[in-house]
Amino acid sequence: MLNVSGLTAAYGQVTAIRDISLAVDAGGILAVIGANGAGKSTLLKTIAGLLPATSGTIFFDGDDITRRSAFDRVRRGIALVPEGRRLFPSLTVQENLQTAFASKRKGAWTLDAVYDLFPLVAERRHRRAGNLSGGEQQATAIARALVTNPKLLLLDEVSLGLAPAIIADLYARLPDILAQGTGILLVEQDVSQAMKVADSVHCLLQGATSLTGKNLTMADISGAYFGVDKK
Ligand SMILES: Nc1ncnc2c1ncn2[C@@H]1O[C@H](COP(=O)(O)OP(=O)(O)OP(=O)(O)O)[C@@H](O)[C@H]1O
Ligand SMILES: [Mg+2]
Repeated sequence: MLNVSGLTAAYGQVTAIRDISLAVDAGGILAVIGANGAGKSTLLKTIAGLLPATSGTIFFDGDDITRRSAFDRVRRGIALVPEGRRLFPSLTVQENLQTAFASKRKGAWTLDAVYDLFPLVAERRHRRAGNLSGGEQQATAIARALVTNPKLLLLDEVSLGLAPAIIADLYARLPDILAQGTGILLVEQDVSQAMKVADSVHCLLQGATSLTGKNLTMADISGAYFGVDKK
């Protein structure tokens, strides 16, 4: 469904990701891991169209979308849950979800369906988003992406700042999302969490791919993650 090849992107003169190639299948999960500043968020922003590619290609459902606008990509079914959630704090939970309706596609994820998936979000629907806990805000951010009925969900550090039980609870919702045929590309610093759910793992080190594979062990990953052999 998503096919990225030789993708390079920069902030001004500074190249942040270099020559990245990866693929995500419908109903599959690819996890991108890497240390602070490795380029994980930059990769997601480039796929979502928020940062232009300087070279390489992004194919989605067989179409070359490398030069398409971010809005066009949402309409095609790519939804980003950004790092830090980026909700509108003074709007209610439901109003936050409604902000995504402009780019809504047809599909199973109605407001009622996302409320069924996240009962706590449903309970909080009339509260201001800024007054929710971190976990509730993260669930709301995922719900906001889901109501667009994405074919591909880009998740940037779901676990950031959350307690283990809350993280586990959020991750436990992913199978219901995959069951709709949605593919997930997730970014994590919590490597063990990422490895638990992902079909394959892609490790970035200083903007470049240091390791990719299925069924990797922590020992395989440590060198690729930190750039040194920890043994
Ligand atoms: N808006 C920006 N302008 C300039 N440089 C940036 C910008 N955003 C990120 N960078 C730089 O690009 C590189 C990759 O950053 P990125 O945010 O993609 O890393 P990351 O892997 O998501 O890190 P983290 O785990 O801290 O979220 C870093 O060197 C960072 O300083
Ligand atoms: Mg990041």
